[in-house]
Parts: sequence; C-alpha cells; structure tokens
Amino acid sequence: MEERRKKLQEEEKRVEEAMGHVKNKIAVFSGKGGVGKTTVAVNLAYALSLKKYKVGLLDADMHGPNVAKMLGIENAKVYADDKGIIPIEINENLRAISLALMIDKDVPVIWRGPLKTAAIRQFLGEVKWGDLDFLIADLPPGTGDEVLSIAQMIKGAYAIIVTTPQDVALLDSRRAVNFARKLGMNVLGIIENMSGFKCPHCGKQINLFKVGGGEKAAKELGIDFLGAIPIDEKIVIDGDEGKPFINEKGEASDAFKKLVEGIEEKLKI
Ligand SMILES: Nc1ncnc2c1ncn2[C@@H]1O[C@H](COP(=O)(O)OP(=O)(O)OP(=O)(O)O)[C@@H](O)[C@H]1O
Ligand SMILES: [Mg+2]
Repeated sequence: MEERRKKLQEEEKRVEEAMGHVKNKIAVFSGKGGVGKTTVAVNLAYALSLKKYKVGLLDADMHGPNVAKMLGIENAKVYADDKGIIPIEINENLRAISLALMIDKDVPVIWRGPLKTAAIRQFLGEVKWGDLDFLIADLPPGTGDEVLSIAQMIKGAYAIIVTTPQDVALLDSRRAVNFARKLGMNVLGIIENMSGFKCPHCGKQINLFKVGGGEKAAKELGIDFLGAIPIDEKIVIDGDEGKPFINEKGEASDAFKKLVEGIEEKLKI
C-alpha cells in the first residue's frame, strides 16, 4: 500500500514537472458527442503549429480515440526509451500522442475509470513533450473519468466548449461550462460548430442544426463566443483522409483561422 502511494506521488510529481514546461494548456470538450471536438482540437493544434508555436496534441479519448486518424498517423508506431514515451512528430512544431497508436485498430478499449485515469497520467507525465507553447487535449464527450482526470491533473488549464446550435446540444454545453467552472478551469469560450450550411450548387443557406444558439448560450453564461464554423463537406473528407481542413480555401477554413487568431489574442501570446 505504502509502495503504491509512493509510486503515485512520484507519477504526480512527473505530471507537475512536465506541465511546468507548457505555457498554455487547453482542453477541448463538449456535453454532447459528435459535435466536432476532435476536428477543432486537431485543426487548432495544426493551425498554431503553422504559426510557429510549439504544440502538443493529446488524445484523451480512450474509448473513441480519433486524433491519429484525423492526423493521418494511424499506422505510426510509438516508441519509448528509459526517459519516456516519444510522441509522433507531425511537423517540426507539432507532436501528438493517442492510445490508438498503442493498440490494435479494431480492438475496443474496455476500461474502468482508474485505468483511464492512469493512462492520462502517463500521457501527461511520461510523454516527452519538452517545452511547449500549447498542449491541446481532445476529450471524449460529457463529464466522465477522462475529463475529470484532465481537469484535476492539469492545473490552470483553459477549457474550450464545442457545441452545435440546436437546443439539445446547448443544454449539454451549459452543463459542460458549469462543470469546467466548478473544477476551477478557465473557460476560454464556446465554439459553435456545424453552424449552417451553404448549398455549393445554388448558394442557398440551410440551417440544418439552426444557427446562433452557441452565441446566445455564451451570452447567457457570461463567457466569450469564440466563433462559428459552418458545415462543409470538405471537413468530413479531410478528416477521413487525415488532413487538416484549414489548408482548404473557403468559408469554414476562413472562419476557423479567424477563431484561432481570437484565441491567440485572448491569451496574449
Ligand atoms: N463543420 C463541420 N462540417 C462538416 N462536418 C463536420 C464539421 N465538424 C465536424 N464534422 C464531421 O463530423 C464528424 C464528427 O466530428 P468529430 O469527430 O470532430 O466530433 P467529436 O465531438 O470529436 O465526436 P466524439 O464525441 O465522438 O469524440 C466527423 O466526421 C467530422 O468530420
Ligand atoms: Mg472526438
């Protein structure tokens, strides 16, 4: 028992030490699933890396780890040496780690809370992140084990809440915002994703999931609205092909780049 407690304390110390080398930690989460967290996390990390910031991207979704797929590194292998786990290099400024890189592709992860917490502790403390300007954590939906672990283990983390505009998503987003606040996270703001769709053939606007709900919820909750990203089929295609969509031309990519500038401005870096 004493032995285990000591080991845990050592691991916690390593997390603290590693996080001391990271200027800004950002957790991307949402109340509802499938609203675009991973898309936002991957493209935010990539956009910041193109601006020459040193960025780490941590896939903290243990049951549905999608970061590797969206970055096109599904087949990459993770190595470790006696000093720690070596993250996969995406470009000279971006490194990523995901459980998907350590397990067989189609094997489900059947883990209870303590195992997931231990894995996140390892991702934070044992991965050789080095000095970073940003560590972006992509979280699973809701407010379960992984989200709680990240919120508790990373002191001073910022939270970005991704939502779609319809009422059911907003209801869950309010919960996510209050959860982040309760855990002492600094809420950077809300992103409204899948915010309207412009028909590429006739140019007509179709608001599939409504529009404006994210901004309204942000106002009600007294937090910043970071921006809206429209529905764009290129986002789906690029995500499936493992390419960041911000390299595309168009409204969605422009909106995303503006949103990244806003985040930079907010963090004054
Ligand atoms: N603005 C958008 N326009 C079109 N498709 C989008 C947009 N945003 C995300 N998608 C697509 O929607 C799907 C879900 O997105 P994503 O995986 O990023 O959501 P998530 O919130 O991370 O999901 P989960 O809760 O399962 O982790 C993906 O196929 C993605 O390509
Ligand atoms: Mg996801």
